[in-house]
This record gives sequence, structure tokens and C-alpha cells, in this order.
Amino acid sequence: MCGIVGYIGHREAYPVLIKGLQRLEYRGYDSAGIALYDGSEINLSKTKGKVADLKSKAEGEISVQGSLGIGHTRWATHGVPNDVNSHPHYSNSGDLVIIHNGIIENYESLKKALIKRGYTFHSDTDTEVLVNLIEEVQKTENVKLGKAVQIALNQVVGAYAIVVFNKKKPDELVVAKLGSPLAIGIGEEEFFIASDASPFIEFTSNAIYLDDEEMAIVRLGKEVKLRKIKDDAIIYPKVQELQMNIEEIEKGGYDHFMLKEIYEQPKAIKDTYRGRFLANEGIIKMAGMDDYLEKFTQAERIIVVACGTSWHAGLVGEYIFEDLARVPVEVEYASEFRYRNPIINEKDVVIAISQSGETADTLAAIKLAKEKGAFVFGICNVVGSSIARATHAGAYTHAGPEIGVASTKAFTTQITVLALLALKIGESKGNISKVELHQYLSELEAIPTKVEKALEANEHVKYIAGEYKDASNCLYLGRGFNFPVALEGALKLKEISYIHAEGYPAAEMKHGPIALIDEQMPVVVIATRKGHYEKVVSNIQEIKSRKGKIIAVVMEGDKQVKDIADHVLEIPETVECLTPLLTTIPLQLLSYHIAVMRDCNVDQPRNLAKSVTVE
Ligand code: M6R
Repeated sequence: MCGIVGYIGHREAYPVLIKGLQRLEYRGYDSAGIALYDGSEINLSKTKGKVADLKSKAEGEISVQGSLGIGHTRWATHGVPNDVNSHPHYSNSGDLVIIHNGIIENYESLKKALIKRGYTFHSDTDTEVLVNLIEEVQKTENVKLGKAVQIALNQVVGAYAIVVFNKKKPDELVVAKLGSPLAIGIGEEEFFIASDASPFIEFTSNAIYLDDEEMAIVRLGKEVKLRKIKDDAIIYPKVQELQMNIEEIEKGGYDHFMLKEIYEQPKAIKDTYRGRFLANEGIIKMAGMDDYLEKFTQAERIIVVACGTSWHAGLVGEYIFEDLARVPVEVEYASEFRYRNPIINEKDVVIAISQSGETADTLAAIKLAKEKGAFVFGICNVVGSSIARATHAGAYTHAGPEIGVASTKAFTTQITVLALLALKIGESKGNISKVELHQYLSELEAIPTKVEKALEANEHVKYIAGEYKDASNCLYLGRGFNFPVALEGALKLKEISYIHAEGYPAAEMKHGPIALIDEQMPVVVIATRKGHYEKVVSNIQEIKSRKGKIIAVVMEGDKQVKDIADHVLEIPETVECLTPLLTTIPLQLLSYHIAVMRDCNVDQPRNLAKSVTVE
């Protein structure tokens, strides 16, 4: 969580930093701050609230001149979101200034020791402890800033991506990383630092991604020097060419990133499967998997670890794998898995799913699984992310940047990859024939067009949203492949509209939730024709008899449910195991429109952040 950005070079730093922070706001938006060096002094401005609030404050409060600066957008961990706890933080002398993404776990003991040595603290943050620790090391050891940062970080337990500079040495920024992402953009006589490449994409397409336990001194007129924090070993930086383009990270005429990303799904799904199969020949080729096919075909069990929406995609994967690949699957919340003593061994395959590739709990679950000897396969969207690097092998989803906090295209593209894996394993194990494989692949190939068709219901969904925007609660029901879609639909509604929503397997309703049903309760039911249809129809009747309001997602041409439900939303026909790729579309639109009508901040819902790099 938290976004960090830094600049050193020949242009004015302020506009670069503000724009960069706006692009990183998806990472946290409790408060924001900026520190600029104007040639003699550091000018610092920070505030509770968003980057727009910072901009108004900074422009009235400080000189925004200077070509060296750092900025931060915060998701609060230590200390409530207020002006004082916002970053950047000064050291006691006022010479050093720092921004930090992560958590210093042993900050209390470090703080006590610093207080004994006469340091005072103004905020409740762990970050202010770190900057003073660096200052103390610099003083007592009489070393340069880079060395002081290194010594200080060797005393720290926790996670960080930091940028720090000293006003007495304004030709360098010192950066370091452990557990939180950090990229250095390399321009002509200028450098950019950021949590991801989006703040500097229009200035350079060359970047260095730091690995964990690495630090760098970014000095004007010099090459970037990388070192290992622990043993001081020199690392030769790998400069990567960025694939991202500016259109991908802008709203492109849509009111919100979430809506743009919902509409991008036909392309995102196509980009995800492009080049990975030949439907006519029944061939699947997945570079990340082909070399490890045996691991999958021999696996006694597949364990999926993930959080949030990615966990829901994993649950869909469980149904698909068990159906097509005939391998037992367990889907685990990464946060629970990592603290149990799970029984896993070399015969298990662990699939870690994460859009951001930075989720702390998922990363920890991967580490544990590797320690226990399991083969770990990653499904990530962000190229080069920590999870992509921590796994033995993997497949990217190619959804393009997902900026709205509510995951949409990540979900459908993760299911696309899971379906391809299941089909490949199923065919290799002889559970599905070439002919069947061909049929499934043809269905998959047709999904983007069918998603487009499902999106045509937007105006109708908007009308339904208007009817239920004031509800206090909402139930989502589904069965089989679409039970996880019910969970995902409920998550989407609660996270962006703040309406309490629960997802249930439809048949579980009579074991408790049915007590909630009255004329005030909207119930979204997914009733695809092949998915235990008659049983779901009975469930719908049960709701109707208790005066619940029914919004049903059905397949085109459905008559039976149409007669009972208050509203129906149609999706095109496909094979049952792929229906989640379609049934989820109206549910995404429904939560989007309800949130807009309730005047909620759709892309940046309260208390949340896009990538959860704290446990
Ligand atoms: O980046 P990840 O896929 O690992 O993120 C996992 C969850 O934090 C994420 O899916 C979260 O639940 C979304 N806000 C849901 O829309």
C-alpha cells in the first residue's frame, strides 16, 4: 500500500510528482505529501486527504520550485490518517527527508532507543523512526547517506520501499526495497522513482526494478549503482524496456476506471488467451506451463492460494479443474494458509493468484509452500511483480493495468488462464478427448464477443440499479460454477457502494439466510440453464413466496425464470464451466451503477487500496 514517487533531473519536479501521485493514488489515498528542494531549502507540504487536496494546499503554502523532490500517497498503517502522520517525514535535524511504503515492525524498540539518545518524534509513524535512525547512524558512524541507509536497514524488521535525500547533498536520492515495489525510470540526465512505472511512462521507457533487499544510489550524472543491503554485494542493474502505454493508464473518456475496465474485458480476455491455443487443432501452448506439465499431471492435489477477488477466481478454478482435469483442488485464503501448519509436500502443486502480484499474504503463502517442497505456479497480471518472481513458473493474465480498486478484468482473465490450465491438464491426462478440447477452445474463443453482448445490457442494469440503490442489504445466490460468482458479485457491491451484501450457494439459503428475506431484500440469483437450473428455480420460488425482490441472471431465451423474477438480465449461451466469464458482467455493472447513484467514490472506495502489501 502507499504510493511513492521521486524525481531528480533538469525539469521542475513538482508537476512530475503530482501527476505521478495521482496515478499511484490507487495504492492508497488517506493522505498525501510532497517535499521539494529549491536550491537551498526543503519545502514540505502534506495533508490528510487526496492528491487533489495536497495540490491546493501545497500551491498556497510552499514554493513548488526545484528539480529534486519526493512525494507520497498513503494508506495508513501506523498512526491515523492526519496531516502530521502523512509523509514525507523529516529527521530531527531537518536535513533528511523520507517517504516510505511498508511497515517497520520493530519500530517501537528502535524509537525507544532513539528517544534515549535525545530524539523527539512528532508523528505516530514507524517512518519517522526510520529517518531518525538513518540520521543517527550517519552521525555516529560518520558515513555518507547511502551507507547510513544500509546500516539502518540492517537493523530494521519489516517491509519497505523508501526514498530519502539529504538537503546538504542534493545531487542524489537513496532508495531501497524489501517487500514493497520500487522502480527507477532512467531518462536523459534525469531519474524517476516510483512504486510502479505509471508516473514516468511519458518520460522514459527504460526502467530498473529493484529486487528485495536491494538499494540504489541515484545520482545525477552517474550510472545507477545497486547493492545488496545485507552484504554490500554490487549488482549490475538490468534495464528493462517498458511495455505499458499512456492510454492504458488514463480513463479514455469513461467516467471511472472501473467502468473502463469492465468494458475492456473482451479485449483483456482475448489478450490473455491470444497465442496460447489453436482451437481448430485442439492445441494449447502456454510457455510458462509446458515445461512443467508433468508437475500438474502427476499432482496429487492442487492448492490455490489468493485473496479477495483472486480467491473467488480460484474457487471458479476449483470447479473447472475438478470437472475437466479430475484433480482434487483446495482453495485457501492466503492469510489463513500462511499461519496454519498446512500439510503439503512435493506432490502438491500450489497455484498463487494475484492481480497486483504484490499481496503480502499471498507472497507469504508462496514462501511457505516452497519451503514445504511444493511446486508453485503464479497467475499474475503485473509483469515483473514480486509474486511473478517468487514463483517457480507462471502465466500472466495480460489484462493491462487495472487501476480501479474493485477488480473486474483481473477476475475474468484469471478464470481464462485457469480454464486453459485445466483443459491442458485434462487433455494430457486423457480426461477430455481432442474433440472435446476443440469444442471447449472454440467456446473460449467466442467468449469476448459474448462479453460484448452481455455488456449491451448496461442501460437495463442501470435502470435496475436505480430501483435498488437505497437497499441496506442484498443477497447473491448461485450454484456450482456460479457460486463463486455470487460471492464476487456481493464483494463488488459492498466494497464500492457500502451496501451490506452476502453471497451464498443457492441451496444454503434455507439453512439461515432465508430468515432475512422480506419485501425490502433484493436477491440476485444466477440461474444458468445447465447449472442445476430446476433447483435454482425452486430457490427463486422460495424467495418469491417470502416477498423478496428477484434480479435473475439467466441465459438468453429463458422463459421459466422470466415469469417469476422481478428483473432478468440475459447472458449469451456457452458451456457451463465458462459461464462465470459472462454471469459476472451484469453483476459488475450493477454494483458500479449503484455506487455511482449513491455518490460513492467508485475507483477509490473508503479504507481500501489496490494492492495490499501489509498483512
Ligand atoms: O492483487 P491481488 O489480486 O492479490 O489482490 C487481492 C485482493 O486484495 C483484491 O482482489 C481485492 O479483494 C479487490 N479490491 C476486490 O475487488
